[in-house]
Amino acid sequence: MGDNLKIPQHVSIIMDGNGRWAKSLGKERIEGHKEGAESVRACLELAVEMKIKYLSLFAFSTENWGRPDEEIHGLWSLMLKSVVNETSNMLKNHVRFMVLGNLEQLPEYLRIAVRDCMKATASCTGTTLVLMLNYSGKWDIVQAANRFFAENPGKTMEREDMDKYLVTSGIPDPDLLIRTSGEERISNYMLWQTAYTEFYFTDILWPDFRKPEFRLALEAFSKRERRFGKV
Ligand code: IPE
Ligand code: IPE
Ligand code: MG
Repeated sequence: MGDNLKIPQHVSIIMDGNGRWAKSLGKERIEGHKEGAESVRACLELAVEMKIKYLSLFAFSTENWGRPDEEIHGLWSLMLKSVVNETSNMLKNHVRFMVLGNLEQLPEYLRIAVRDCMKATASCTGTTLVLMLNYSGKWDIVQAANRFFAENPGKTMEREDMDKYLVTSGIPDPDLLIRTSGEERISNYMLWQTAYTEFYFTDILWPDFRKPEFRLALEAFSKRERRFGKV
């Protein structure tokens, strides 16, 4: 499989359903996040195999601060562990690592780990893995506008300026956005960048979303006819 598939340049995933996965097995929510980290590994592996240029993952929204402290801290330590442990694997697979979002609010140890991994993999030219961390679409648009007007007083903003000032600057807009767990909403994710993105929703919970499920999404994308407003 793969020869006659249209491969998207940029696949983005709203990884949802970790809590429900854990609950269905009578486990703590953090166990769902741990299992979800395995799905990240699997999907990254397939992205590398399929030569997908960008894989972006919504890992923590600005609204997720409303969760219990225990869960939030559990997520940070899980991310710390993953980033540290996976750096050598990323290098081996030529994966470039990036983190985008409001990083100022993250604990320092996580910022340092993330920065080190980004530095170590900066010259990798295979798949770019983008972790959207403490990110939201409205936050992104507002920070872009603020930076633009601070740097260009008195000017008007054009569409291209917005593209340039969003944190995703330089990354093509997602061709395909996958959301797991049966929820069919954007939850303040990449609002500007998904203007012409193809959406794929599945009931599978994120910890169960592995290579075969990702492949199905890619096959579905391959059959879509994208018109971009034309005929
Ligand atoms: C997605 O799973 C992971 C994050 C938002 C960090 P959830 O934790 O939202 O899982 P559900 O939606 O409660 O099942
Ligand atoms: C979206 O999932 C955010 C991430 C996957 C990081 P949520 O679970 O936070 O979204 P809602 O609350 O169901 O919309
Ligand atoms: Mg959720």
